[in-house]
Amino acid sequence: MIDKATVDAIIEAAKIEDVVGEFVNLKRRGVNLIGLCPFHNEKTPSFTVSTTKNIAKCFGCGKGGTPVQFLMEHENLTFPEALRYLARKYNIEIQEKEFSVEERMAQQMQESLHLVNQYAVDFYRQQLFQTSEGKSVGLSYFKERGFNEQTIKKFDLGFAPTTPDAFTKSATKAGYQIDLLKKLGLTSQYDQDFFKERVMFTIHNLSGKPIAFAGRTLKKDKKVPKYINSPETDVYIKNKVLYGLCFAKQAIRKEEECILVEGYTDVISLSQAGVENVVASSGTSLTVGQIQLIKRYTQNIKIIYDGDTAGIKAALRGLDLVLEQDMNVKIVLLPDGEDPDSYIQKVGATQFRQYVQEEAKDFIFFKINLLLEDAANDPIKKSLLIKDIIETVSKIPDNIKRSVYVKQCSDLMEIEEVVLHSEVNRLLSKAHQKSKPQEATRTAVPAKLRREGQEASPATHEFQERDIVRLLITGGDAIFKKEKEVSTKNKTVAQFILDNIEDVIENFDDSLYKLVVKETRQRLKNGELVDGNFFLYHDNPAIRQLALDLTSSQYEISPGWEEREIFLNTQKMPDQNFTNDSEQGVKRFKLHKIMRMCAENQKRIQAEADTDKLMTLLKVQQKLLTIRNGLAKELNTVILD
Ligand code: CTP
Ligand code: MN
Repeated sequence: MIDKATVDAIIEAAKIEDVVGEFVNLKRRGVNLIGLCPFHNEKTPSFTVSTTKNIAKCFGCGKGGTPVQFLMEHENLTFPEALRYLARKYNIEIQEKEFSVEERMAQQMQESLHLVNQYAVDFYRQQLFQTSEGKSVGLSYFKERGFNEQTIKKFDLGFAPTTPDAFTKSATKAGYQIDLLKKLGLTSQYDQDFFKERVMFTIHNLSGKPIAFAGRTLKKDKKVPKYINSPETDVYIKNKVLYGLCFAKQAIRKEEECILVEGYTDVISLSQAGVENVVASSGTSLTVGQIQLIKRYTQNIKIIYDGDTAGIKAALRGLDLVLEQDMNVKIVLLPDGEDPDSYIQKVGATQFRQYVQEEAKDFIFFKINLLLEDAANDPIKKSLLIKDIIETVSKIPDNIKRSVYVKQCSDLMEIEEVVLHSEVNRLLSKAHQKSKPQEATRTAVPAKLRREGQEASPATHEFQERDIVRLLITGGDAIFKKEKEVSTKNKTVAQFILDNIEDVIENFDDSLYKLVVKETRQRLKNGELVDGNFFLYHDNPAIRQLALDLTSSQYEISPGWEEREIFLNTQKMPDQNFTNDSEQGVKRFKLHKIMRMCAENQKRIQAEADTDKLMTLLKVQQKLLTIRNGLAKELNTVILD
């Protein structure tokens, strides 16, 4: 743990142009520096570095942020890792904070689990290479499958002997607590070995530490499970692990592609043959956690599955999930009866690569061809198929990419493009409404544009709310001071805004904006300052992105954004006008809320039959209208009833 003072010192020292400059070739343009975006492919530079704001932002894809955020995304670092990187760069000594008792215990537990697993790796390896059973059964099996000794050692393969408690005895004798052995699933509750008479595969975490095992039986008996696996533990969370990733990660970066297969042996065979950018999902269908692991290294996935129907189904199952994460997916089906392991052993690496290269099909063509064959001349089937494919396409987050796919689908399926587009839009708007309350990520495109083409929800106060939030983020710590007015108390803009909208906080339509306002309130209550850095360094990535979008909004893409390159670089931000702005902003915000209340009350009036109640409602309406008109007058707004 790095103590707070050091964190602050690092953040203070880090210069965005130094940090970005290490990875991007920057050129001066006006007050900013500009270069090619490292997060997406582009030919004209739109990655903009603002030295005054100490942030970077791409106006193509929206990525960027503070020096810390940039490093986290570009170098796949965690927050503390990014801080350590910067500390090294700026020669700042890191004061480690004392761990709490719980932290220390949790860490010790993890270390113990790793240690026990490492003992198990050594034990199973020793059994494989040095016992007669291991050599004659296990080692000869691996050799027969074509794995050489170097590969066997690299992947920590081993052998669990037939003696029912050989491992447990050995480990306890060596001083390891039996509780830990049980916790890791290596020993059963009856003090017997869990893995017996099986060849062993070690599962590693990203840094190469052993976290779990899989044991394969050598029996042909169908009643014996082919593989058995360690249970989930604190160090082994199944849906966040990909087999082989620790060996593959460098190659994945280099090849700019990750090959995804099903089995342990597929990974090992491909890797031995020199196709090293390969990982396995280990028989389960892909999870979001696993895709996000891959995404740290590349956006391109090639799924190589068995050519049988089970393989095809498995490939299709993972697909929508992969697309949602904005990954590019290709699919390769192997000849009947082959899996990647058997096929590469049969034809060799060169021919394997060539086959994969030639047979790789873009997911959409793959899916269409597969389903079209099935639907042939059946119109009902075909319309279902179109729906199915459009659903898949609608999962692609990138607008441009999605449009390209719609066009290709229209050609392939012989359906007019507009029809497909409107169906995609319908699905998008449905998905949007569903996800609205916990909306997690935002793009650089202003909200109004972002929601274009989707069914607008009735009378949202998006702009007024966004403006309040913009003021809090960009000028929350500015002093609220009216000209010529001698104020005895120094109020900040954040305080002014919160004092004035306290009563309507719950009326925010947008959950993210509401969150920002509530966090501000909490911070003010604690007597802390609210400044841009508080939001730019926030734990919540959605808030970080929003802060980035708003802080850099002086370059926000103009409404004619389709023509691109038309940034409003020259437009001045009303930086100096926070007082005025926040007064106006609060009024506009309240005006819209009051107007909505008027409309709702009006509806109630029309529906009310009881005279007494009607009178009360009319009085309320009178009050609301007075407030409304007052606000409107102050804002110089004419209201048409
Ligand atoms: N698997 C599993 N449990 C099973 C069967 C399969 O966990 N009972 C997982 C394993 O991760 C396995 C993958 O599914 O690697 C693919 O299964 P399969 O193709 O049957 O195994 P292979 O890896 O091809 O193993 P082998 O070549 O030795 O048959
Ligand atoms: Mn196999």
